[in-house]
Amino acid sequence: MKVKKAVFPVAGMGTRFLPATKANPKEMLPIVDKPLIQYAVEEAVAAGINELIFVTNSSKRAIEDHFDKNYEMEAELDKRGKHDLLSQLRRIVPEGVSCVYVRQPEALGLGHAVLCARRVVGDEPFAVILADDLISGHGMSCLGQMMQAFDESQVSVLGVERVDPKMTEKYGIVKIDEEGARLSRVSAIVEKPRMEDAPSNLAVVGRYLLRPEIFNLLENTGRGSGGEIQLTDAIAQLLRQQAVMAYEFAGKRYDCGSKLGYLQATVEYALEHNEVGDAFRRYLQDFREK
Ligand code: G1P
Repeated sequence: MKVKKAVFPVAGMGTRFLPATKANPKEMLPIVDKPLIQYAVEEAVAAGINELIFVTNSSKRAIEDHFDKNYEMEAELDKRGKHDLLSQLRRIVPEGVSCVYVRQPEALGLGHAVLCARRVVGDEPFAVILADDLISGHGMSCLGQMMQAFDESQVSVLGVERVDPKMTEKYGIVKIDEEGARLSRVSAIVEKPRMEDAPSNLAVVGRYLLRPEIFNLLENTGRGSGGEIQLTDAIAQLLRQQAVMAYEFAGKRYDCGSKLGYLQATVEYALEHNEVGDAFRRYLQDFREK
């Protein structure tokens, strides 16, 4: 089976970016000129996804508007002859791709957010993408690489990367069977362990390909780390029933849920940007010399 649906949990509060996120979803923060959520959607679509399921709440309406048609703006751009911008807007959701919005009524955690998408996902494998983790893949996107692993194995695949051992408290951490292999079976997973309790320094980033059996487990997952229903805890149950693989992707991840990661992404994406890249590089050189 092919993965065709992706779940984007976007109901989180974004407290780390207050006051910017008081009235504006954190997923709408731009890296140069595109909101984080659009990068996540582009990665999904490039990997073959054609149904985008956003798990949202009442303060995230800007996300729905972003992926909807804006007739007024399109008419205005057309009138002014700004055809490049017009086609950019029209490509935000490519033809053949549809958007579905599901509400997460209470902030009960990532596991609960994924469970809210159950009816829309149905009985098929699906992706989960956390837009906070912006990933530039080497050659192929992170999700694209994971998709190849899924196509071959048909088992759940978690995107992972090595982190500073002092940072395990921020992530789901996995233990794998084959140390050093890019793709290996997961033997244990634990949410946000302290450094001394962590089974390794291999952290799950915001990319998951999951088999639908996860939903029954999520139904029965109690509150875990931080008092929330954790996706990690349901994956720990899934491991007991079937194989789950960890995939160490080739690429670079920016933690755009943190100010520092956000700034790093902004600088690096600006340097690569076709409109401002050269001028920005010159600016940074001048700035360093001062
Ligand atoms: C979530 C997951 C965690 C994962 C992380 C990746 O945590 O619960 O397992 O490692 O995303 O970014 P959060 O960052 O929402 O606290």
